[in-house]
Amino acid sequence: MRIVFLGAPGVGKGTQADRVTAQFGWPKISTGDLLREAVRNQTALGLEAKKSMDAGKLVPDSVVIAMVREKLLDRSCEKGFILDGFPRTVPQAEELGSILRDKGLQLDRVVNFRVTREDVIKRLSGRRSCPKCQSVFHKQFAPPKIDGQCDRCGSSLVQRNDDKPETIEARLQVYDAQTAPLINYYEQKGRLSHLDGAGAMDQVYGRLSTLLSGLVNR
Ligand code: AP5
Repeated sequence: MRIVFLGAPGVGKGTQADRVTAQFGWPKISTGDLLREAVRNQTALGLEAKKSMDAGKLVPDSVVIAMVREKLLDRSCEKGFILDGFPRTVPQAEELGSILRDKGLQLDRVVNFRVTREDVIKRLSGRRSCPKCQSVFHKQFAPPKIDGQCDRCGSSLVQRNDDKPETIEARLQVYDAQTAPLINYYEQKGRLSHLDGAGAMDQVYGRLSTLLSGLVNR
């Protein structure tokens, strides 16, 4: 299955994509994770991308498209993939369509996560991440066993630079202006399913897993 996860920052795309990978085996391609890795490794791309990311703005289309193209052409994606956080602009969506068409493929589904603005802000402001193994927690909704410490590797948890209140607001504005138009874009192509992203992580996954199982068994 070739699936795109669409939705505002903090709706739970990454959390749910990891569960889908564990159940269905389709690899997750997260442009946010790939960019953060480039920042950590201080590559030229990472140093350039960091400025946009810290300001809550999008990294230029050409940069993310090149990154995703390389991943999609990898053998690990032959049986499918979950794109988390890509596409985020209409030009990115057009380019994704063209990369897939060149391979004789198309997207099976675009899942649009719907969560209230209030919940998104709560989820983003309480998120804590491990700088070493990249595990994600939430102060209230997915707390680590020992406060401030990663369950997997014991490192001290940190807040992402772009999860500070002023940057959250900037990211939500960017989402409204540049990414939300993709809902209509994919709806017109008959590829869109809405998913209620409210409630506990297990509840959301129950709905998502039912939706994806239905597609697999079509
Ligand atoms: P990226 O990392 O993709 O950020 P995002 O889309 O803003 O998404 P998030 O990672 O913030 O949220 P999520 O929906 O994955 O939520 P999560 O599961 O973590 O991108 C970062 C930056 O990179 C962008 O701002 C941009 O600069 C750049 N970038 C990336 N892709 C790009 C592209 N295509 N083009 C241009 N630039 C790009 O959950 C959030 C928190 O909530 C966690 O703490 C989690 O534990 C908790 N949580 C999850 N589900 C629930 C639940 N059901 N109930 C309670 N808590 C929950």
